[in-house]
Amino acid sequence: MAKELVAGPKNNQYKIYIGQNAISKKNLSLLVKKHQKILIISDSGVPGEILKKVHTISKVTSKVFTFTLKQGEQSKSLGNFQKIINFLIEHQFDRSDAIIAVGGGVVGDLSGYVASSYLRGIQFIQIPTTLLAQVDSSVGGKTAINIPAGKNLVGAFYNPKGVIIDTNTLHTLPAKEFNAGLAEVIKYGLIQNTKLLSLLKSNIVNISSRKSQIVEQIIFESLRTKAKIVTQDEKETGIRAILNFGHTFGHAIEAHGKYKNILHGEAVAKGMLIASKISWLEGHISEKEFSKIYSLLEAYNFDLSLHQYKFLDLKPFIFRDKKVQRGNLNLILLQGQSKAFVTNDFKAKNLKLAIS
Ligand code: NAD
Ligand code: GLY
Repeated sequence: MAKELVAGPKNNQYKIYIGQNAISKKNLSLLVKKHQKILIISDSGVPGEILKKVHTISKVTSKVFTFTLKQGEQSKSLGNFQKIINFLIEHQFDRSDAIIAVGGGVVGDLSGYVASSYLRGIQFIQIPTTLLAQVDSSVGGKTAINIPAGKNLVGAFYNPKGVIIDTNTLHTLPAKEFNAGLAEVIKYGLIQNTKLLSLLKSNIVNISSRKSQIVEQIIFESLRTKAKIVTQDEKETGIRAILNFGHTFGHAIEAHGKYKNILHGEAVAKGMLIASKISWLEGHISEKEFSKIYSLLEAYNFDLSLHQYKFLDLKPFIFRDKKVQRGNLNLILLQGQSKAFVTNDFKAKNLKLAIS
């Protein structure tokens, strides 16, 4: 059953359409029809069929242009930012025109950043086609590009005009990518959403084999939590930080490995395990609760090995995190089932112990 959610501040709310066949005339025309020109940005890994559908619906009301990036994280670059801006200038896009991002988080983050800066802001629509982008990056308005000094170091908070999540697009997603996206779904269950946590525990086989109905349900529950949090705290001055549960360690693992051989979600799964272990060592959750989290991550086939990382190797990356403020490291920990909190009150020895 198709579902809808709303996110964003009162004066700038946007709708999120979720369902099989959500890329429909009804949903998309509504968002596109006022724009004379549309630029569809995607990458070389996004199936042609999805793009064709978006193109066909958009061209009924608008002149449609396309820009295709090379697939991969390297495309989220200053060079591509410049190329797309040049393209928009060349084709005389004005403030009343719009961009549609069709793809994963790479396409969404870069397109959103272009949209936030071109002519000081033009509208953009997110059509995420990876599980990670559907449950995380397409909602909440974080846009970014990478620079040589690091990932996502240049960007803006800039909300989309609307988000269309068509769960049919996930059929072609490689298993590894689908599984990595599940780490973010598990995150919402662990930090806040008890209903989602029990869905995850009792539907392991159906979720892993991508049964449509349950996949749609877990995407909806993930976004119900995300939309609530980003609406409450758009610019991450408070509660939004809990969305980064496991990410300080996950990012450190990714950076330490030079972003090779491990996907973001796979690193986040290890990061959530470390954060949960610290929560246990600090006495916020019991050993039994920690074991249940371990078992859940294991049931979804995440590689939870940590022996290959030494605390001292990860430490520089951990302390370079955006959550370090005035030299203090803020951690997102758990104080029970589906209850995350932010703290800088923890013993350094437990941080070390959880990693080694
Ligand atoms: P991605 O965008 O690189 O997509 C993964 C691969 O899947 C790509 O090769 C892509 O071509 C392919 N693909 C896309 N849709 C497909 C489909 N339907 N079928 C088959 N293949 C398909 O990776 P991702 O995991 O979606 O996103 C990662 C990016 O998201 C990172 O840059 C990360 O920093 C960013 N991110 C942003 C936020 C945010 O809040 N803005 C949150 C989390 C992650
Ligand atoms: N992905 C974390 C956030 O959107 O805040």
